[in-house]
Amino acid sequence: MLIKNAKIVDVDGTQHGDVLIENGLITKVAKDISAPDTETVIDAHGMTVMPAFIDLHCHFRDPGFTHKEDLCTGSKAAAKGGYTYVNLMANTNPVCSSATQAEGINKRAEEIGLCEVHQVVSITKDFDGADITHLENLPNFVKAVSDDGKGVTSNDVMAKTMSLSAQNGFLIMSHAEDMTISKYDYRLAENIETARNILLAKHYGANLHMSHVSTKESIEYIIQAKKQGVNVSCEVGPHHIYFSDKEYKVNPPIREKADKTALIQAVKDGYVDCIATDHAPHTMEDKLAGAPGMVGLETAFGASYSVLVTQNEVTLPQLSALLSANPAKIMGLNKGKIQKGYDGDVVLVDTDAKWVVDPKEFASRSQNTMFEGEQLQGMVKMTVKKGEITYRSDKI
Ligand code: DOR
Repeated sequence: MLIKNAKIVDVDGTQHGDVLIENGLITKVAKDISAPDTETVIDAHGMTVMPAFIDLHCHFRDPGFTHKEDLCTGSKAAAKGGYTYVNLMANTNPVCSSATQAEGINKRAEEIGLCEVHQVVSITKDFDGADITHLENLPNFVKAVSDDGKGVTSNDVMAKTMSLSAQNGFLIMSHAEDMTISKYDYRLAENIETARNILLAKHYGANLHMSHVSTKESIEYIIQAKKQGVNVSCEVGPHHIYFSDKEYKVNPPIREKADKTALIQAVKDGYVDCIATDHAPHTMEDKLAGAPGMVGLETAFGASYSVLVTQNEVTLPQLSALLSANPAKIMGLNKGKIQKGYDGDVVLVDTDAKWVVDPKEFASRSQNTMFEGEQLQGMVKMTVKKGEITYRSDKI
C-alpha cells in the first residue's frame, strides 16, 4: 500500500509526504515515493496519517454477554474508531482466569482479523478477591492482569500480586476501587487504592498501570510517584477529560470540574501515558437497571481531539503519543510510530471534520454513550492494519 500526499504525524513530529507499506510493515516514509507495483494507492491529500490507535482498556463481553458486544462487533467498532490493537478486560462469563481461555479469545479475534486482541487475565480467580495461584506460571503471551470492574481490596492479595509482577514482569492494570468504601464514597475508594497500589509497586518493584484515573488526588499521587521513579503508568478515559459535573452511570464516576482540570493539566505536563476508552457496551435495559459504563471506541479520537487539541493546546504529536506510541511501549509492541520497520498500522483522520455523535451509526452492538448529540471535531476516515484496510468511511 502506498499512501500519498499526506500530513504525517506521530510522537516524533510532523512531516508531509508518502508512506509505503510492504508485507505488513512500513518500509519507507519520504517526500515523494514512486512504487509502480503497489496494489493499493491512496491519495491522502487533506488528510492526516497517524499511527493506528491502541486501546489498553476495552470490554468486548465475549464470552457470556454477547448480546451487548462480541469479538466481531467489538472488532468492527475498534476498526471504525481507528484502533488496530485492544486489551480486553476479564469480566466476561466465565471470567477469564487462565492463559488457555485468553489464548482462545486471542485466536478467535485473529480469525476475524479486524483488530489484534490481547485478552487480559484476571488478578484473582473468577474475581473472588483472594486466589491468585493461576498467576504463578503465566506464560509470556499474557502481558497484563486486571480485575477491572472491581478493585482488589485485600492488601495481602495485592502485595503478593505485586511480588509476582516483579518476578515475572506482567503488568498489573489496577481498577482503583476499595469495594468496602465505594458503597458510600467513590472518591475515597479510588484515592485509597491508588495510594496503596503505588506504595506496593514501589516496595516490590512491580509493573503497575493505573486504569481510568479520575480524581485530582489520584493523579497527584501518580505524579509524585513518577517523580520518585516508581514504575507506574496511567491512563485517562475520554469521558473523564471531556465531561464534568454530569450525571451518567460509569465507574469511576464523572467527576468535578477541578478533577477534569487536573487530569488535563497532567496530560499537558506529560504525566498521563495513555488515553484508554474503557469501552463498556450495555443494553438499554441494563443501563436503566444501573449498569455502569459507556461505549467509547468510536468517539475516542473525536472527543480527545476536541478537548485536548482544540481546547487545551495539546499538540497532535502529543495526542499521538497518548493514543499510540505510549500504549505500544507499555504492551511491548512494534507499533505506534510511522517509521521504517514499524507495523503498517495507520489511520487516516480528518482533523477539521465536525460531526454530531449519533449512536445509531455505531458499529458496536451497543449504543450507550453520554456523547450522544455532542459535536466533536476530528473524524477517522480509514484504518489500516498491517497494510490492509479494516475500515473505510463512505464519506472519504
Ligand atoms: O463503568 C464501568 N463499566 N467501569 C468498569 O470498570 C467496568 C465497566 C463494565 O465492564 O461495564
